[in-house]
Amino acid sequence: MTRDEAISRIAELTQQINYHSDLYYNQDTTEISDFEFDQLLAQLIQLEEEFPDLKAPDSPSQRVGGAVVKEFNSVEHRFPMLSLGNTYNHDELREFDERVKKGLGTEDFEYVCELKFDGVALSLGYENGLLTRAVTRGDGTRGDEVTWNAKTIRSVPLRIQGDNLPEYFEVRGEVFMPLEVFQALNKEKEEKGEALLANPRNTASGTLKMQDSKIVASRKLDMYLYQLMDGGALNIATHSDAVTWLADAGFQVSQTWRKCANVDEIIAYIEEWEEKRHSLPLDTDGIVIKVNDYAQQDELGFTSKSPRWAISFKYKAESAATQLKEITYQVGRTGSVTPVANLEPVLLAGTTVKRASLHNANEIARLDLRLGDTVFVEKGGEIIPKVTGVDFGKRPANSVAVEFPTHCPECGTELVRVEGEANHFCPNIKGCPPQITGRVEHFIQRNALDIDSIGSKTIAQFNREGMLNNVADLYALSFDRIVALEGFQEKGTNKILQGIEASKQIPYERVLFGLGIRYVGRTVAEKLAEGFPTIEALSAASEEELVAVNEIGERIAKSVKEWFADADNVALVEQLKNAGLQFTLQKEEVEQASNALEGKKFVVSGVFEHFERDELKQAIATHGGKVVSSISKNTDYVVAGDNMGPSKRQKAEKLEVPILTEQEFIQMIGE
Ligand code: IVH
Repeated sequence: MTRDEAISRIAELTQQINYHSDLYYNQDTTEISDFEFDQLLAQLIQLEEEFPDLKAPDSPSQRVGGAVVKEFNSVEHRFPMLSLGNTYNHDELREFDERVKKGLGTEDFEYVCELKFDGVALSLGYENGLLTRAVTRGDGTRGDEVTWNAKTIRSVPLRIQGDNLPEYFEVRGEVFMPLEVFQALNKEKEEKGEALLANPRNTASGTLKMQDSKIVASRKLDMYLYQLMDGGALNIATHSDAVTWLADAGFQVSQTWRKCANVDEIIAYIEEWEEKRHSLPLDTDGIVIKVNDYAQQDELGFTSKSPRWAISFKYKAESAATQLKEITYQVGRTGSVTPVANLEPVLLAGTTVKRASLHNANEIARLDLRLGDTVFVEKGGEIIPKVTGVDFGKRPANSVAVEFPTHCPECGTELVRVEGEANHFCPNIKGCPPQITGRVEHFIQRNALDIDSIGSKTIAQFNREGMLNNVADLYALSFDRIVALEGFQEKGTNKILQGIEASKQIPYERVLFGLGIRYVGRTVAEKLAEGFPTIEALSAASEEELVAVNEIGERIAKSVKEWFADADNVALVEQLKNAGLQFTLQKEEVEQASNALEGKKFVVSGVFEHFERDELKQAIATHGGKVVSSISKNTDYVVAGDNMGPSKRQKAEKLEVPILTEQEFIQMIGE
C-alpha cells in the first residue's frame, strides 16, 4: 500500500470505528458484530504500525492500549488537587452553611449537591482540544502521569470539538470500576483460585497505575467528571453551567446533581439518595455540596487543605445481618493466626460479603461469638468488612462456642501466645508452609527484589516439591529441576530464572527490606542501610548504635538484634551473599565517567529500551551533564524514548531544542 492509500484508508477506518463505537457505547445498539468491529480495529492498528507517523493522537486504536510504561512521570498539578472537609450529621452541615453565609455576608447564593463517587480522582488536561495529560491526585501538588491508561477509558474523550476552546483546559473527575465489572473480575479470580480483590475503589486505583495499558483497557474503567478548572476562560460563571458544558462537550457526567437553595433542600437530597444510590453502577459514600457561583467560591477561598466553598457529607457505614457459618484460620508470613468469619453471603452496600476479619481470639471473646449466630457486618470506609456484633435474640439453642485452635491449622504445631500480644502464633517458623511461602512472597515483591516472573502458585508448588524452603533457595533453582515439574515449559522456566538473576542487581536497602525483619518496612530499611552501609556493619551494631540512627526506635532495634542473633538468619545472609546479592550501599557521589556532556542541560522523556529512565538520568550526570525537568529555551537536548508526550515534542520543536533518540544519546556518551 502506498502512503497516500494508507492515509485515506486510515481516515476511513477511523471514521467507521468511531461511528460503531458511538453506536455501541453511547446509543446501546450495534450494526456490526464484535468480530467485524475487531477486524476494523486490527486493520487500523496494523496500518499504524506500518506508518507510525500517520497514527493520530486521538486514534481509536488507543482505546485498546498497547503502550507499556516502565515508570510513571511525576508531574506538577497546574492547580493543586485538594480534598474536602467531611460532615457526618445535619448539625455539622448547618455549621458549614453558617460559615458560608458569614463568609459571603449574604444569604443570596445557591448550592449544587452531587453524589460522592468512591473511586480515584483524575485530572485531564486538553491542549487545543486534544487530551494530552491525565494525572492522578498524588500528594495534591504532584501526581503520576497516567495518560496512556486514561486513554483506554471509553468515556474519556480523546478530543473535544468546539470553536471557542481555550488553548489549554483541565477537567477533573472520578475514575471508577463499575460494580458489575468488579464482580465479574472477582468471580473469575475465585474460579481460578486467586486472591480476591478487596473493593472496586482499590481495584480502580491499582488498575490506573498498571504499567501495561492493554490490561488497563481490559479492565473497563469508567469516569464521571465533576469539575472544570478555571471555567472563567470558557466564560462559565457557575458550577452548574460547568457540568452542563462538560456533558455537552462529550464528557460523562452523572445526572444525579441538583441545585439546592438551602440546608433543608440539601437534607432532602441526602435522604432521597440514601437508598437510591445503591442502584447506581458504582459505589458512593456520601454527597458533595458546592457553592454554585464561581465568584462566590473565589470569595470564600481555601484553607490549606480544602475549599471553604464545598464540603462532603458521609453516609453512615452500612450494616447487614447474616449467619456465621464457620471460622477459618489464616496463617501469615510472621506466623500470626488470624480468624476469619465465613458468612452466609449477604449484600452489603452493593457488594456481596462472604468473609469478615475477626482479628484475634480477644475479638471473638469480646463479641461473645458462637457458630450459628446471626451477626451484624459493617462496611465503613475500610476494605474488609467487620463483624460488629451478635443478634443475641436470634441465637439458636444449639449454637456452638468457638474454640480457638490450640494447634496450627497448616502444620499442626502447637500455637503460642506471647504476653502482651493479642495474636496467637505458630512457632514453626522454618517448617510451616504459609510462613515460608509468605516470606518468599514478601521477598520477591516489587518494592523488594522485584521478581515478577514467579507468582504465589508457583512459590507454593516449589515449596511442596521441597525446592523452596527459604529465600536463598531461589538462587539454587535450576533449569532442569523446574522444567521437570508439571506445567513448566522451557520458555516459562527461562523467564523465572532470568527474573531471579536480575534480582542480584537490586540495591542493598531493598534486599534488606526483602529479608522481612519484623518492623523493618521500606523506609526503615533505607534508614538502616544509610546508617550501616554494609550488612556486616548492621549485624554487628549494638542496640544503642541502632537507636542512634534517625527514626530508628527501640522496638525496631530490638527486632533487628533478635533477627541477627538467629544463626539460621546469619547463614541465610551468607548464602544470599554467595549468590551475588547486593549487601553494600551504593555510593551516593557518582564517579565521573567522562565530561562529554559538560555544561549541557537535558530533558528526559518517554520509555527507553537500553536504559531505565533513572539509569539514563544517571548516565547524563556521570558524563557531566545536568537533568532538568521541563523544556525551556535553555535546554540543550531532549532525549526522547517511546511514548514521549506530543505536547513535549511540540514544545521542543517550537523552541528548536534538538531531540535525540536513545541511540544518538548512547553515541554521544561514547558507550
Ligand atoms: S469535588 C476541591 N465532587 O472526593 C475538591 N469530589 O475528598 C473538589 N469526589 O478528591 C472535589 N465525588 O476524588 C468532588 N462529586 C464530587 C466527588 C468528589 C467524589 C472525591 C474526589 C476528591 C475527594 C475529596
